[in-house]
Amino acid sequence: MSEWEIEKIAGHCGARLKGISLSRASNSELQKMRSALFEHGVIVMPDQNLCPDDQIQLARFFGSIDVNRFFTPVSNYPAIAEVRTSPEQSAVIGGTWHTDHSYDTAPAMCSILSARELPPFGGDTHFASMSAAYGAMSHGLQKMLSNLRAWHSDDSFLNSNLGLANNPDAFRDPVLHPVIIKHPVTGVPCVYVNGDFTTHFENWSIEESTSLLAYIYRFVTQPIFTARVVWEPGMVAIWDNRLVQHYATADYYGHSRLMHRITVEGVPLKGFN
Ligand SMILES: [Fe+2]
Repeated sequence: MSEWEIEKIAGHCGARLKGISLSRASNSELQKMRSALFEHGVIVMPDQNLCPDDQIQLARFFGSIDVNRFFTPVSNYPAIAEVRTSPEQSAVIGGTWHTDHSYDTAPAMCSILSARELPPFGGDTHFASMSAAYGAMSHGLQKMLSNLRAWHSDDSFLNSNLGLANNPDAFRDPVLHPVIIKHPVTGVPCVYVNGDFTTHFENWSIEESTSLLAYIYRFVTQPIFTARVVWEPGMVAIWDNRLVQHYATADYYGHSRLMHRITVEGVPLKGFN
């Protein structure tokens, strides 16, 4: 088994795994990688250059593939979503803080993103630790939020012109998740509301929910909770959607960018209280 190292890239989330080859890794190496994912929320591995079959095989180590019903699939690989920005696009997919698949009853546990074509600058992805954000809240706010659930909806994909598949059958009814979840593997409490898909608190009106949700979004995305991933050719990033939110930076207008994404099935989320 080859030796590889884990280097933290920020105080509260993010780690770089050096020396691992994902397409040749042994089972024990992959288990170590999975532990790093649950500890750091997002792990990045440079110089992987995974082919689509390698990426699918890697995803299957974590579980069954959760095929996204809105994204355009990669040609001949329906399990892989294409995250493409063309040079004339000023907005990008994921260009606001969000959690992938939170509109599902059992939201995807992790997303695996493989860099295929990068712009000459920019296009970094930011991550924010939802366990660190929870830990920094006052006891009073923690307690109040722990007693709430919130509705999540895929409605924000309506009228999207960002290359998302225009499929009216893809939409589902909104789902409820606890606002503070207990991480399904580690048990740590994590904030689980996001600006793209959360609509309002259970038994609250949308108007009543807006101010508190806006406060939470501002709070949880403070720079101290974040790590910034600067993409390199062939790099792979894996993040745990229960532990971090993420944000794609749309600062490379005039250039194209292509990433391949696979999401892995998760489980229904339980509250922390
Ligand atoms: Fe995303």
